[in-house]
Amino acid sequence: MRSQTTGSMSPPATATVPALSGRGLVKRYGTQYALAGVDIDIARGEALAIVGPSGSGKTSLLHVLAGILPSDGGEVSLAGQRIDHLGETKRAELRRTEFGFVFQTGMLVAELSAEENAALPLLLGGQSRGTALTSAREWLARLGLAGKETNRPGELSGGQAQRVAIARALVHRPRVIFADEPTGALDTRTGRDTMDALLTAASDNEAAVVIVTHDAELAHSVPRMVTLRDGRVVS
Ligand SMILES: Nc1ncnc2c1ncn2[C@@H]1O[C@H](COP(=O)(O)OP(=O)(O)O)[C@@H](O)[C@H]1O
Ligand SMILES: [Mg+2]
Repeated sequence: MRSQTTGSMSPPATATVPALSGRGLVKRYGTQYALAGVDIDIARGEALAIVGPSGSGKTSLLHVLAGILPSDGGEVSLAGQRIDHLGETKRAELRRTEFGFVFQTGMLVAELSAEENAALPLLLGGQSRGTALTSAREWLARLGLAGKETNRPGELSGGQAQRVAIARALVHRPRVIFADEPTGALDTRTGRDTMDALLTAASDNEAAVVIVTHDAELAHSVPRMVTLRDGRVVS
């Protein structure tokens, strides 16, 4: 029997449950609304760009979706299960197991080598050092960093450091990767290459990726785009 094609009241078929979904998300700082009721769905393996002017709520939305910030209203669901009401310990565990993060500047640990940085999510998850480093090296090679495994962040270019951050975001095979202005500190050419590397690596692993950028040109290389203005989705 064919399932109903309309009817938002009926429960969705499993295959169509979004990887991540936000409903009526509100975030306030004092009297200022950073998010004023945002609905957003990200499908399994989908790449989505969130664009909008500075101050439009992009980072707030990313942080609320990822459970870094508690919201002041609305719901967040991961594969159909609500996660917004979880306590900080559970949220931290989710961030470590289901999510990967890439920030504007790598946020790599300066004292650790590239392979140790990339292996961090596995080491924190309790894998042995040997297994974790083997996986990390595979990811670094896939991202074009073979030969750089033992370099420290200070011995890498900006683009190379972002690739280490991408390896670290993917090494534990998360369901969703969040990237906040991942190319913001790079020149145009390196930024484009880094964005391609991120999109390809995520898509090869069926990880959904949510990329915040104010760079409209870069956003156009991402299949789907959501525009925020004053804490609301405008397109
Ligand atoms: N920690 C904070 N305290 C007070 N206001 C904040 C804080 N973080 C963000 N805001 C405000 O919330 C709004 C949205 O900010 P943000 O989510 O960082 O937007 P974007 O990432 O699009 O620049 C802005 O008006 C900003 O000034
Ligand atoms: Mg921001």
